[in-house]
Amino acid sequence: MSLINIALDGPAAAGKSTIAKQVASKLSMIYVDTGAMYRAITYKYIRTNQTEDFEALIKNTTLELTYDETKGQRVMLDNEDVTDYLRENDVTNNVSYVASKEPVRSFAVKKQKDLAAKKGIVMDGRDIGTVVLPNAELKVYMIASVEERAERRQKENELRGIESNLEKLKTEIEQRDNYDMNREISPLRKADDAVTLDTTGKSIETVTNEILKMVDQIK
Ligand code: C5P
Repeated sequence: MSLINIALDGPAAAGKSTIAKQVASKLSMIYVDTGAMYRAITYKYIRTNQTEDFEALIKNTTLELTYDETKGQRVMLDNEDVTDYLRENDVTNNVSYVASKEPVRSFAVKKQKDLAAKKGIVMDGRDIGTVVLPNAELKVYMIASVEERAERRQKENELRGIESNLEKLKTEIEQRDNYDMNREISPLRKADDAVTLDTTGKSIETVTNEILKMVDQIK
């Protein structure tokens, strides 16, 4: 099979990263989590007392994705492994704001395009099919009901030992989606040539198989 890129977009907590990892592993492709890049920059933004000078913030930033056999993708920010901090609440609550800033986006998008240049990449995010990989061989736009997305996030938190309130999670997810869909630069939207995949009520295995079938069809 010739090498392809797969773009996976959709709203928050729709299961993109879980499915992207599965698909990448089944097809021996490399998974790239672009949200983690925006989260890492947000982590730095918080650490620098929420500077509004995003130009300067980015100028002094190095960001690399590395791969660990057991731990998977790791995010190196200024040569420090920050992966374990990226799901913390203060990062999640600020990431959409930081990701709406032009210097942040052009920095991250360039890195994402470079990573995908050699193909064989499954990349998930918000603007992958529209901006980062407009020529991706397969584009999927994953959605799920907000109730189910909040429940999935709650279970994920439980596994990390974090207690969370379902209603609060729902509100946070909706707020982040609103922000991401209404920002000026590369807002979250379905690419015209993307396939919409509603994952509500479906298992990870079912959704993964549906995408593998789509890949089969483009071979
Ligand atoms: O996917 P994840 O929830 O980790 O993404 C965190 C945030 O990063 C999103 O809510 C969005 O604001 C931003 N993001 C983005 N473009 C991407 C990926 C993520 O703006 N390609």
